[in-house]
Amino acid sequence: MPQEREPNPAMTASDRPIGFGRVQRKEDPRFIRGKGRYLDDIVLPGMLHGAMLRSPVAHARLVSIDTTEALAHPKVLAVITGKDLEGLNLAWAPTLSADVMAILATDKVRFQGQEVAFVVAEDRYSARDALELIDVEYEDLPPVVDARRALDPGAPVIRDDKEGQTDNHIFDWEAGDKAETDAVFARADVVVRQEMVYPRVHPAPMETCGAIADYDPVDGKLTLYETTQAPHAHRTLYAMVAGIPEHKIRVIAPDIGGGFGNKVGIYPGYVCAVVGSILTGRPVKWVEDRSENLMSTAFARDYTMTGEIAATRDGRILAVRTHVLADHGAFNATAQPTKYPAGFFSIFTGSYDLQAAHCSVTGVYTNKAPGGVAYACSFRVTEAVYLVERMVDVLAKELEMDPAELRLRNFIRPEQFPYKNKTGWEYDSGDYEPALRMAMELIDYEGLRREQAEKRARGELMGIGVSFFTETVGAGPRKHMDIVGLGMADGAEVRVHPTGKAVVRLSVQTQGQGHETTFAQIVAEELGIPPEDIEVVHGDTDQTPFGLGTYGSRSTPVSGGAVALAARKVQEKARLIAAAMLETRPEDLEWEKGRWYVKGDPSAGKTIAEIALGAHGTVALPEGVDGNLDAEVTYDPPNLTFPFGAYICAVDVDPGTGKVHVRRFTAVDDCGTRINPMIVEGQIHGGLADGVGMALMEFIGFDEQGNCLGGSFMDYLIPTAMEVPDWETGYTVTPSPHHPIGAKGIGESATVGSPPAVVNAVVDALAPFGVTHMDMPCTPARVWEAMQGRPTPP
Ligand code: CDP
Repeated sequence: MPQEREPNPAMTASDRPIGFGRVQRKEDPRFIRGKGRYLDDIVLPGMLHGAMLRSPVAHARLVSIDTTEALAHPKVLAVITGKDLEGLNLAWAPTLSADVMAILATDKVRFQGQEVAFVVAEDRYSARDALELIDVEYEDLPPVVDARRALDPGAPVIRDDKEGQTDNHIFDWEAGDKAETDAVFARADVVVRQEMVYPRVHPAPMETCGAIADYDPVDGKLTLYETTQAPHAHRTLYAMVAGIPEHKIRVIAPDIGGGFGNKVGIYPGYVCAVVGSILTGRPVKWVEDRSENLMSTAFARDYTMTGEIAATRDGRILAVRTHVLADHGAFNATAQPTKYPAGFFSIFTGSYDLQAAHCSVTGVYTNKAPGGVAYACSFRVTEAVYLVERMVDVLAKELEMDPAELRLRNFIRPEQFPYKNKTGWEYDSGDYEPALRMAMELIDYEGLRREQAEKRARGELMGIGVSFFTETVGAGPRKHMDIVGLGMADGAEVRVHPTGKAVVRLSVQTQGQGHETTFAQIVAEELGIPPEDIEVVHGDTDQTPFGLGTYGSRSTPVSGGAVALAARKVQEKARLIAAAMLETRPEDLEWEKGRWYVKGDPSAGKTIAEIALGAHGTVALPEGVDGNLDAEVTYDPPNLTFPFGAYICAVDVDPGTGKVHVRRFTAVDDCGTRINPMIVEGQIHGGLADGVGMALMEFIGFDEQGNCLGGSFMDYLIPTAMEVPDWETGYTVTPSPHHPIGAKGIGESATVGSPPAVVNAVVDALAPFGVTHMDMPCTPARVWEAMQGRPTPP
């Protein structure tokens, strides 16, 4: 059963701000009343509108662009092409992965939807109309669409702009010990192997991406409103690329309607809005539409994987090895720490105690949109978990063992933590068996298996899928992890006003996760100030400390640590001031929530509000203590945090249509200390829906010419309440030993852990047909094909 105590109804948030009850989200009153302020709600005086001309083809040489007619449109103020940007040295820009990408095409177009020209007009309708007046001549080139063909001899070279690039190869990367792994495989009783594809999917946030650039030619200051998950990193990148100093750039992220990794990078539209504003002297807004978002902004996954597991006949897993072909699209613009070209994929060893492991990853260019972001996952953990959790099921099938039992037999044991895995990660803490046992109990695993046997006997198709995942979230530490040279740390500043109310300023950026509530709860826990008296400020580089932002569930592990430590600094400072006020020595004081008092005399004490007033008032302060109650911390996490979870899914498959119905889904998560259980649960519900979507319907496909087949919500299906069951959840609490409040990230656990549970369930349902694997998405057509014994199409 849950190890956390249940909330006492009489207890308020101020009594126990962390982990208890359902502290309501501070941001919800404005969201549910339609008072959120998103980018497209912002209207600046004199604002112009931009629109992007995009390539209709996947691969072509640009012969000419004629903008004369568009410029003659009465409402058009500027048309920007790649040639114009070349003059400003902005036609190409560095990516987050040490490559370059075209802002506007100059020589070739390399994917359908690539940015070719930018129109600035009085209104967005005129800007869009004028796109049709631009005359572009393309000379078609053969495209490379399938990553498995990208390295064929004679394949068209996509990146002929790069000196010395004679093929479509980007990188080779490996982790683990190959020789040791091969040796374990050679002597194993059983080896199973499975090819699998994690298809290209898209984060598809509800709000698409956009920017408003407002350049002031008088003081040379650029104010940039952006849908960004990383305002500070963006500001520094603009400074590096455009040469505008940071103090002349202010990035403001207003409310954001979902990011999921899609709003980490800088898109050409943002840069063009800036150039448009500099050229016209007026603010320029650019907001993409849904198709632009799906076709041109950062995708996720697109890994073709070969997995192998070596085991003993009695079900002891010995080693895992894998080779991955990673499709990075036309520019290598994936987002992850520099040293990790395949992100944290090397966590593919999963939750199991192995003797050896090895992975190799080859990255290739194709004529598809660039990106490769951590879509609701910490840098390729999703692909890694899918690989190992599918492989364990393939092994269970081979050994004719129950998949839950096989997992239980191979878990890293609690006494082995901190656990160093075979690819170099140090798992901070974990206790896996109780989580899986709880999930089995909650869903009545034995009962489900009995039901399945009865249904099978009647010819009905029911499947049960198990998955157990360990994530690695909260990137840094900075000595190992950086993005374009910026160390992965985050800042926080806590100020207590003279009346005892507080403001906390963050470098991370909420996109709906509820930071305004949870970060206030952390400060409340440390200082005893009620959460409602703590304002959380984020999303404005002029008002917040530097840090790398929110993605890969890093806000709680990194910024959460920064906030807790900044609050503790305030608490220590308050002790010095209280001692002066009480005319005693600091070491004679004791802390209880919200006040310092004299040891042995609880009546002689000062509350944090009294101390704040003292600090800002006339109290004679001790030597070296300034007259405020403020503190700032940049937190460099000593390690990542390793949340985990056990998921079990039950599906029914319609034998006539192949339609999969997810009937039940139980998720037991462990994210260490839970700051706000209601928000944690909400994060899990959302992630589970996301995972069901990926497993059953989400897929960006391309035809042989490179035409994107998933460019609208008519084709790119995302789940609604109709397709998902009522989630059944449970939790265990295994705090992180190194995090200041023991919290691990949770934002992405469910997206990571749920796809293999669903696919394992579908494959299990199809066992009577001899199916041992099928690739996502398990659409009715694909399931039906699998039932006919045909392989899943690529
Ligand atoms: O980086 P991101 O905010 O997307 O992910 P996260 O750090 O996992 O946090 C997601 C939300 O859940 C935030 O509002 C957190 O404060 C909250 N959370 C929590 O209440 N307890 C945890 N142990 C982890 C996250």
